[in-house]
Amino acid sequence: MVTSTETQSQAATLQVVNDIPIDEQIENLVRQHKELSITRSRGLKSNFVNGADSEGSKLLPKSSRKRLEEDGVDLSKGYPEVPSRSEIPVFVDQAHAIRNEELPFIERGKNADPEKKALFGAAKEVINLTKRVGTEIVGLQLADLNDQQKDELALLIAERVVVFFRDQKLPPSKQLELGKYWGNIEYHPQTPHVTGFPGVSVIWNDFRQKKGMDLTFENANFSNWDVLRYPSVGNQTWHTDLVHEKQPAGYTHLHLDAIPSVGGDTIWASGYGAYDKLSDEFKKFLDGKEAVYVSAHTYLDRNDPLSGPQRIERIHPIVRTHPATGWKFLAVNRSMTKRIIGVSPVESQVILNYLFDVYEMNADLQVRFKWTNTKEGYGTSAIWDNRVSQHRNVWDHEGTEPRHGTRVTSLADIPTFDPNSKSQREALGLPIHKWE
Ligand SMILES: [Fe+2]
Repeated sequence: MVTSTETQSQAATLQVVNDIPIDEQIENLVRQHKELSITRSRGLKSNFVNGADSEGSKLLPKSSRKRLEEDGVDLSKGYPEVPSRSEIPVFVDQAHAIRNEELPFIERGKNADPEKKALFGAAKEVINLTKRVGTEIVGLQLADLNDQQKDELALLIAERVVVFFRDQKLPPSKQLELGKYWGNIEYHPQTPHVTGFPGVSVIWNDFRQKKGMDLTFENANFSNWDVLRYPSVGNQTWHTDLVHEKQPAGYTHLHLDAIPSVGGDTIWASGYGAYDKLSDEFKKFLDGKEAVYVSAHTYLDRNDPLSGPQRIERIHPIVRTHPATGWKFLAVNRSMTKRIIGVSPVESQVILNYLFDVYEMNADLQVRFKWTNTKEGYGTSAIWDNRVSQHRNVWDHEGTEPRHGTRVTSLADIPTFDPNSKSQREALGLPIHKWE
C-alpha cells in the first residue's frame, strides 16, 4: 500500500520544470534515479550500480583475482567496473551516434602467408576440431606472438571461424594489445568491464545473476524458440555480437580464467557453411539483398519516449564477402536480424526463420568447445570472427562452479558483398549439389 507520505515524495520528485524541453527532462530523470534502468539488455532490466562493484569483488574466483592482480588491476574499490550513468545513452539517437563515422581498418589476415608457416612452425600441434570449423593450437602463448604470427592467426580465424588456445598466461592488458592489432576496440557503454580497462568486457553470468538476472535451468533456452516473446537471458541464444555497428565486430577474443570442471561450453556455427547449405537458386535470390540489424540493448525514442524500448538499427548486406578469405557468407542471427529489405514483412519472417534454422540445425557447420585447461592456474582463449559466425553458450553447469572471462572485440570493416566472390565450397573445389 502506498502511504500518503510516499505519494507526496513521488509527486515532488517528478515535478516538471516547464521551461526545460520534455526530452531533456526525461533524460535527467532517467540519469538521476538509480532505480530506473537506464538501458535494457535484450529487453531485460539491468541492476548494475555505478562504478566499481563491491559485491562483485567478493564473488570473484581465486584464479581470476590472481590474473587481474598480477596485471596491476586495482580491485580495492570493487570489480567489475560499470560505466557511469552519465556515459550511458538514454535515447536511441545518442546510441546510434556512437562510432557512426567510418574508422580506418586494416584487415590483418589479408596479406598473411596462406600456409601460415610462422604460426604453425612455432606450434607444437595444430588440431582441426571438425572438418571446416574450429582449430586448436597447442604449445603457443598468445602473449608472445610476433606480428607475422598475428597476421597468420587472423587469416586462420577467418578461414576456420574460431581458433582455441588452452593453457594461456594472458593478462587483460596483453589481451587488449592483441585486440588493438586486429582492429578498433569496441568499448561497450553498458556492460561491466575490467576495472580501469574500458575495452575489456567482463563475461560473467554469476555476477549478472547476483545483480538480479533471472537465469534458470528452465528458462535458459526459451529465447531460442521465440526471441521476441522471451527475451534472451545470459548468452544462451544463438547470436552474433554487435551486428548493429557501422563496422561490426570482427576478431573477438574471449579468455576464460575461471572454468567449470564440466559444462559451460560454447558452440559456434559457420556463416560460410550456412551459405553453402542453400540451393543455387536461393543463393541467387539472397545475393545483393540487405537486411536490418539491431542492437541487443534498447533505448528510448526522443520524440516518443513512451512508445517503448527502441533498438539501434543499421542496414547491411545479408550475404557478404570476407575481405581476407574472399568467401561469401550468410550474415543473419535469430537475436538481432530484424527484417530483409525488399520483401513483405511476412515473407521476411518466413525466410529469416528458415535461415536461422540453417545455421542452428546443421551440426556439420558447428563446433562445440570445452574450455578446460590441462594446467592448473592457466586460462583458455577462443578467438572467433564474428563476421562469419554465430555462437551461443551452454549454461548446463547452472552456476554450480564459477565461470568468469574477459572479452576484447576488434571492430572490422564496413560489410560488403562482391557478386564475383565465391562460396567456401566453390573456392575449395568441394562438390555442390545441383537440385533438379
Ligand atoms: Fe556473444
